[in-house]
Amino acid sequence: MDEQRRLWDWHWQHWRERRAINALMLRRGQRVLTIVASLALERPKILDLGCGNGWFSQELSRFGLVTGVDLSAEAIAMAEASYPHIPFLAGNVLTDTILSGHFDLVVSQEVLAHVDDQARYLEVAAEVLRPGGYLILTTANKFVMDRLGASSWDPWPREHIARFLDMRDVKRLLIPNFRVLRTSTFLPMGSAGVLRLINSYKLNKVLSLLIPERYLETLKERAGLGYSLLVLAQKAR
Ligand SMILES: C[S@@+](CC[C@H](N)C(=O)[O-])C[C@H]1O[C@@H](n2cnc3c(N)ncnc32)[C@H](O)[C@@H]1O
Repeated sequence: MDEQRRLWDWHWQHWRERRAINALMLRRGQRVLTIVASLALERPKILDLGCGNGWFSQELSRFGLVTGVDLSAEAIAMAEASYPHIPFLAGNVLTDTILSGHFDLVVSQEVLAHVDDQARYLEVAAEVLRPGGYLILTTANKFVMDRLGASSWDPWPREHIARFLDMRDVKRLLIPNFRVLRTSTFLPMGSAGVLRLINSYKLNKVLSLLIPERYLETLKERAGLGYSLLVLAQKAR
């Protein structure tokens, strides 16, 4: 775990130099915020699990009382400096104790693929929620990650944990503690294998003469071809 902590510290230092919240993070965040709004919870207690530098904890704080937790002390230092009104904790969510049964909503964006015990991670998400509390989870879609092609990200060191899942895997991991209420994928991308054709610029240009681009994107998302998996689940009462 020390190795993972060092890698994430390195990532967030690099991030600080670039100061980039990219379009992908913003669109992902927008999807999650739409779901948070739809839940209409009254001043919920929200946990941003694996909050990184806290940019999204800040967004969530419009809805309720947010706490952020992350493995990287570097990221937490940035979060505390940027958003002093939000409590942040540095720690390993798999092993460190977090308030049990306390939160109304847990938001976890792009963390599940990066922990060595994914079942335990979702068990922790359930433990910290009150009965009937909600989990909003996003995690990179294995089908797309395996076919990213030219859109692949910069390589990480080999030791970096990256175990991508498909929707079936995620549902299986959620079963013991959650009822899955809603699933989708978002942001179609990838240019290898079958996605080379499906996302080809020329084909999509032609199709867009018949079908509005936004609708085409929705069709791909519904077909499970989005970069990220998005799940809304509820802890058993
Ligand atoms: C891809 S980043 C996502 C950060 C943030 N949720 C976002 O959307 O910008 C994954 C984050 O998970 C954190 N993380 C990985 N393993 C963790 C663990 N065991 N406990 C707490 N945080 C962890 C990393 O430090 C990193 O900040």
